[in-house]
Amino acid sequence: MSAASEVARRRTFAIISHPDAGKTTLTEKLLLYGGAVQLAGSVTARKNQRATTSDWMELEKQRGISVSSTVLQFEYKDCVVNLLDTPGHKDFSEDTYRVLTAVDAAVMVIDAGKGIESQTLKLFEVCRRRGVPIFTFMNKLDRPARPPLDLLDELEKVLGIASCPMNWPLGDGVDFKGVFDRQSNQVHLFERTVGGMFRAPVNVKGIEDESVSNALPPLVYARVCEELELLDGVGAEFSLEKVRRGQITPVFYGSAMNNFGVQMMLDSFLAMAPTPAPRLVGERIVEPDSETFSGFVFKIQANMNPRHRDHVAFIRIVSGCFQRDMSATNTRTGTKMRLGNSQRLFAQERETVNEAWAGDVVGLVGNYGFQIGDTLSDDPNIKYDEMPRFAPECFAYLHNENTAKFKRFRDGLDQLLKEGVAQPFELPDAFVRIPLLGAVGPLQFDVLKYRLESEYSAEVRLEYAPWTIVRWIREKNPEDAPKPVRGQTTKPKPNLAASYDTTLALDAFGNWVALFSDKVSAGYFETKN
Ligand code: G4P
Repeated sequence: MSAASEVARRRTFAIISHPDAGKTTLTEKLLLYGGAVQLAGSVTARKNQRATTSDWMELEKQRGISVSSTVLQFEYKDCVVNLLDTPGHKDFSEDTYRVLTAVDAAVMVIDAGKGIESQTLKLFEVCRRRGVPIFTFMNKLDRPARPPLDLLDELEKVLGIASCPMNWPLGDGVDFKGVFDRQSNQVHLFERTVGGMFRAPVNVKGIEDESVSNALPPLVYARVCEELELLDGVGAEFSLEKVRRGQITPVFYGSAMNNFGVQMMLDSFLAMAPTPAPRLVGERIVEPDSETFSGFVFKIQANMNPRHRDHVAFIRIVSGCFQRDMSATNTRTGTKMRLGNSQRLFAQERETVNEAWAGDVVGLVGNYGFQIGDTLSDDPNIKYDEMPRFAPECFAYLHNENTAKFKRFRDGLDQLLKEGVAQPFELPDAFVRIPLLGAVGPLQFDVLKYRLESEYSAEVRLEYAPWTIVRWIREKNPEDAPKPVRGQTTKPKPNLAASYDTTLALDAFGNWVALFSDKVSAGYFETKN
């Protein structure tokens, strides 16, 4: 097959949701269509199975959260589907955001009984900033749900996105009888089946068909007819172009647990979702089907397999064809390397990848010395700048509690910082140099501590620091910046007007930052400087 047709087959996306909305359940059902998972495999089984994959995922089990992200690939109909799993815990972390740089679309799962929750909102905003098209799955219609029109209204008011319902629910909770596919004019009647087995749609002419009115309680039927009439008048006009630009979200109602409405969503999603997008390097556009191979590292994870102590760097391929054993250059360092041990993850299985195309994700196993955001290409001029940097909102000192284990502490910390588990800062004026770390969410510190102890046998203690805001300091005129004196290795301290409650620190790249404990002091500092 040609590069163009390989790219045309690819769909790469992530599911975003608030914890408990049903992301794991939906993922599992989607995998059924790829012929991947046994019908019997329940969500809980999968969660437990996942947690046993590696030591440190114990943490997931203990706290009932998912801190790792996996990449799942399956073929469905003519498409190659790459589903990137985003960690879905309440404390959000940089890891989640990084995964979202590697997708071309997102499916947003909403618990129809609850509507938009805090985490949905945050993740939605990240997707929107990147202009990623968003598809909405209103889940759990088999339970009492909020009125479907209210849910659409909320999308508009809270997220500021127009919506176009592709199907419409016929009742909810015990009265949930199915969905009406607005495009095909078909009614899919819902029957509760054990384990959410597939059901063929019942083909009826339209909502006015007798078999539909007979299946619904009269009050529910009357309400649905009214809603549909209203929708025809007020709903956003469907436009594929607007969907692809992320201006309209197609909405699907269903129940992941019962596997109801999932296939409908998947089929429409694959038809509408964009193929792998070109990416920019400065002014240059790198097309996905170009001959040049390129990709970027969006996630690094060590010790996924505790018996092998391996490192896996996840590369999102942007252009060209990846072939096992090919050579490519890390364009940040200029190091040329042979890409030998390439793997693809499928649920719990790993298999060797011999060939992959734009949109695919390959896990490179081994010590390649990558950093998050690195570009790998056969053209040394391609350097993607896809990885957003986040301003940490919490800080902590990391103490080594056992001097005899200092080396393990240092090695472990170096590796985990390379993986981007937290951001290191340095306080040049401090009397004792204890590593100061910053993170977007405090869970990142817990993961760091846990992994240092379980994977590196280090003994560590976290001491939370008071800062919540960080500002990077730049001279308005770089010529005015103080010049380094001979022998000085760090950038000289910037010229700043005095302010209160301000601590100066250096980031990992040697840039000066100011740390504040609250908005008031940050605001005061900004007015002075
Ligand atoms: P998450 O990954 O987004 O955190 O959510 P997950 O899929 O784990 O789903 C959270 C809970 O919601 C699970 O129940 C799951 O079974 C349930 N759920 C998911 N989809 C539906 C649905 O369509 N209808 C109903 N009624 N429930 C749904 P749990 O009790 O936490 O776990 P389990 O014991 O059922 O596995």
